[in-house]
Amino acid sequence: MQSKLHVNLGSLSFESPIVAASGCYGYGIEYKDVADPRHLGGFVTKSISLTRWKGNPPPRLTEVGHGLINSIGLANMGVEEFVNEVAPQFPALQTRKIVSVACKVMEEYEEVVARLEDAEGIDGYELNISCPNVKEGGMAFSQNPAVTEELVRRVRKRTNRWIMAKLTPNVADVAPGAKAAEAGGADALSLINTVVGMAVDWKSRRPRIATVTGGYSGPPIKPIALAKVWQAYNAVSVPIVGMGGITTWSDVVEFMIVGASAVQVGTALYAVPGLPEKLNKELLNYLDQEGIKYLSELVGSLKTDRAASVGVPS
Ligand SMILES: Cc1cc2nc3c(=O)[nH]c(=O)nc-3n(C[C@H](O)[C@H](O)[C@H](O)COP(=O)(O)O)c2cc1C
Repeated sequence: MQSKLHVNLGSLSFESPIVAASGCYGYGIEYKDVADPRHLGGFVTKSISLTRWKGNPPPRLTEVGHGLINSIGLANMGVEEFVNEVAPQFPALQTRKIVSVACKVMEEYEEVVARLEDAEGIDGYELNISCPNVKEGGMAFSQNPAVTEELVRRVRKRTNRWIMAKLTPNVADVAPGAKAAEAGGADALSLINTVVGMAVDWKSRRPRIATVTGGYSGPPIKPIALAKVWQAYNAVSVPIVGMGGITTWSDVVEFMIVGASAVQVGTALYAVPGLPEKLNKELLNYLDQEGIKYLSELVGSLKTDRAASVGVPS
């Protein structure tokens, strides 16, 4: 019998809608002794590039306004070490394993995915084409719908595995990029990545992170994320994975009502690594209380006066 929390994201099914977000769950192997991965629908690894990246200079993380600003700069071990050291541990983890890929040029995305194809136990890829911290590439990919489409199309040719494209919130309208990723052959879309933000120490007059601006995450970005998920939901027919500031079961419900088929939890995991287990229990409780059979019934159930109204700020 299917669990009440079961969700389908195209060809890939998940036992829970709660997925650990990229950059907030290591490479997926570090947490197994802290919290049982079976409570997650899946996890997305730290973004992997073609070669090892050192990332940005410190300080690169600061707490601000109930959230975080980071400028990690996609520090990671590179695909070779990942395939040799990390991926062999994946088959033992009983949850969906999604590998995030981030590169500076299109050809590198193709090459990283080609190399990952040899590793077992990977359920799919998340293409990080939206990180605001990297000076070259990154931002430019997902801010240009034509580039987004070409990139997804190229990667699509390299793999039969499930592909999710992760979109940036740092555009006026996410719909063109969402449509482009769908046209390129993405099986699902995830959004949002971090919002460009800045924090200043008024005494020293210095920026609180070395790159001056960085990516804002956590509860304050939830309203932005909900709006972007709603815009994307009205633009495409592939499933959407929503994220941005989720900390409670009712946040999950809100994201699903506006159109997300599943969600990712990022910043909140730093404070509470066992949060997914708690969220699952509370979601089951909510379903019982409301007399709802499956959580997936919520997807896109927002009640509006106009079917696809997207409000314009006053
Ligand atoms: C410290 C940190 C590192 C992150 N690293 C990545 C990354 O490597 N790749 C990526 O796609 N997103 C990365 N993100 C973005 C998150 O996956 C997520 O999109 C964002 O934080 C919004 O969700 P949240 O508010 O639940 O954290 C990172 C976020 C944080 C806070």
